[in-house]
Amino acid sequence: MEPEIILETVDVAKSFGGLAANAGISIKVPARTLRTVIGPNGAGKTTLFNLISGIYKPTAGRILFRGEDITGLPPHRIARKGIGRSFQITNLFPELTVLENVRLAAQARGRHSWHLWRSAEALREYAEKAEEALRTVGLLHRARALARELAHGEKRKLEIAILLATDPVVMLLDEPTAGMSREEVPGIIEVIERIKAQRSRTILMVEHKMDIVLGISDAITVLAQGEVIAEGTPAEIVANEAVQAAYLGTTHGYTLAGSRGRQGADPGREAPDIPAAQARS
Ligand SMILES: Nc1ncnc2c1ncn2[C@@H]1O[C@H](COP(=O)(O)OP(=O)(O)O)[C@@H](O)[C@H]1O
Ligand SMILES: [Mg+2]
Repeated sequence: MEPEIILETVDVAKSFGGLAANAGISIKVPARTLRTVIGPNGAGKTTLFNLISGIYKPTAGRILFRGEDITGLPPHRIARKGIGRSFQITNLFPELTVLENVRLAAQARGRHSWHLWRSAEALREYAEKAEEALRTVGLLHRARALARELAHGEKRKLEIAILLATDPVVMLLDEPTAGMSREEVPGIIEVIERIKAQRSRTILMVEHKMDIVLGISDAITVLAQGEVIAEGTPAEIVANEAVQAAYLGTTHGYTLAGSRGRQGADPGREAPDIPAAQARS
């Protein structure tokens, strides 16, 4: 049986002035899988996410969620349908506790908001949902801490918990490890792996760290200059010549196999994010 395609873009395009940030992108994401979108800086990855979440309206093309055309709907309608995206730390309420932050998200999404007669029961449900989300991200032990007291890596986990509390069918994660210290990265990857293992949601992620991408993805879509240049399993992507061409030919000398450099790069040094060989700046 064919797996359900939960999210599909059909020739989606978005131009800024004369620049085609997305030049007709078609992807199909099967339900309950983890798809990673990779590509050099400026390839159009964030633009694609902005189109899917309704921040931008496409210049052309269609976006289907569970087969329903959601092209051009405003962001809040798309979020309500079940396509959620994590926002940056600025969305946290620093003076509220970790649990309160997550519970507010559950409540905002909840269906009972205006039924005061149900409020006690609903509040208990929201609290349970919030606790479950905190358990998934490994922050339950910090539930009573104020959000502002969290370390940076913990705040990123809290953002994911807030997203989980809204019960998204599809989660969009744009560079979840960006700006993290080396020590914090494994913790966030573990969280993403745990969500994937729960098999109840679809994850669409942009990530640069290739060792992570190859380890965690069911499938990878490679963008360059606003177009899909390759798609496949991690093994297929590593072997793909077009992908190699897009990533190599740089002075960095890094390969898709991870952070090993051809020029004897220090293995203890952090690999750069994808070289910007194709960036059009
Ligand atoms: N709001 C915008 N206005 C003008 N140009 C934009 C805007 N957003 C993105 N772009 C341009 O579109 C291209 C793709 O950007 P982006 O989707 O952010 O790439 P990526 O996330 O892959 O690095 C870049 O050339 C970028 O400068
Ligand atoms: Mg981006």
